[in-house]
Amino acid sequence: MKNVFVCKETAENETRVALVPADVSTLTKMGYAISIQSGAGLKSGFSDEEYAKSGATIVADDSGSLQADIVVRVSMPQNSKGVKEGALHLSYLDPFNEKALLNDFAQAGVQAVSLEMIPRTSLAQKMDVQSSQTSLAGYYAVLLAATKLPKIFPMMMTAAGNIAPARVFVIGVGVAGLQAIATAKRLGARVDAFDTRPTVEDQVKSLGAKFLKIDLGDTGQTDQGYAKELTPEQIELQRQAQAKLCAQCDVVITTAKVFGRKAPVLLTKDMIAGMKPGSVIIDMAVSTGGNVEGSDPSKEVITDNGVHIIGGDMLERFVPRDSSSMFSGNITAFLTHFWNKEQNELLVNMEDEIMKGCLLTSGGKIIHPRFIQQ
Ligand code: NAI
Repeated sequence: MKNVFVCKETAENETRVALVPADVSTLTKMGYAISIQSGAGLKSGFSDEEYAKSGATIVADDSGSLQADIVVRVSMPQNSKGVKEGALHLSYLDPFNEKALLNDFAQAGVQAVSLEMIPRTSLAQKMDVQSSQTSLAGYYAVLLAATKLPKIFPMMMTAAGNIAPARVFVIGVGVAGLQAIATAKRLGARVDAFDTRPTVEDQVKSLGAKFLKIDLGDTGQTDQGYAKELTPEQIELQRQAQAKLCAQCDVVITTAKVFGRKAPVLLTKDMIAGMKPGSVIIDMAVSTGGNVEGSDPSKEVITDNGVHIIGGDMLERFVPRDSSSMFSGNITAFLTHFWNKEQNELLVNMEDEIMKGCLLTSGGKIIHPRFIQQ
């Protein structure tokens, strides 16, 4: 397997491209033959000319995917059409929710890799799109909040009077939350944060933010570093403890997710009703059910008391040049890891822990134990 096709994204709001010219060059030197659909990189700032100079063949339409051994794209496709039997397909797949797509890939005999399922191990870290993309989303969430807010982030002492720093509360301090804290601090805000995983407190403090202490009893984390789901009683406790701080804050950014499950609702209508007019909430968990009651992935909601609720889904799409470069770096690491020098091609090694973790379909079947029963 060495013929790679890079698709032009079809989702209207997808701005990224799966491989950028610099990585096309690296992979071509390794032995891969890369073709790309014309215009695939335009929205993220990469022209056909740059791809051609880096060694890619430009194909006028999406027909190139039919010849490819490996098809790469960012967003999940609607179906397996255009991917030949036996080919390896890499993209987001949302496998917990997209059962029909998974069955379709299996029936078409495609070897579908779900980038969300790449294991969170040290070896696989460089292939982890979840981390690279949500980190940029966390950064962008703060910029978005800063431009919506009717006040500035930093403290200012001027002859015309003093301005207090904005108060930002970050709920959920994983990859996105840490980047949001760092960005808000750089802009001069006063930042508080909370996460259910006990290991997070030191990380929050090291960024100069304050950790909100809430005793929820046993919380813990999975061996992959993900949070465990809380009981309804624990969630209620958490809400009560957060309500007072939310009422004092100008910005609340929520990123709290539970892998493979619906996100917990952490800001209820009552809590939002207690917030200041003009304050801004960015719900970064909106695509998995949302942390905020009333948030909507497709539009900004302004409540009766003037709070702006923004469903911040895939905010990395607003910085597509860098998010594409990082996504492409992840894909390149994957293609490099499975490249076999002796045979001069990529081998799908079913014994490899990374491949076992993310390859969901092969040989006409769903093969990943977590999805076989779906
Ligand atoms: P995520 O997107 O699944 O969740 C975001 C955050 O929400 C997590 O920190 C989680 O603990 C928190 N959360 C869940 N329920 C909550 C609640 N009720 N209240 C407050 N917070 C809640 O997680 P993400 O950001 O993808 O990563 C989580 C962790 O995974 C990282 O901090 C790290 O420890 C680990 N990780 C490991 C990697 C590796 O070894 N390759 C790569 C990236 C992350």
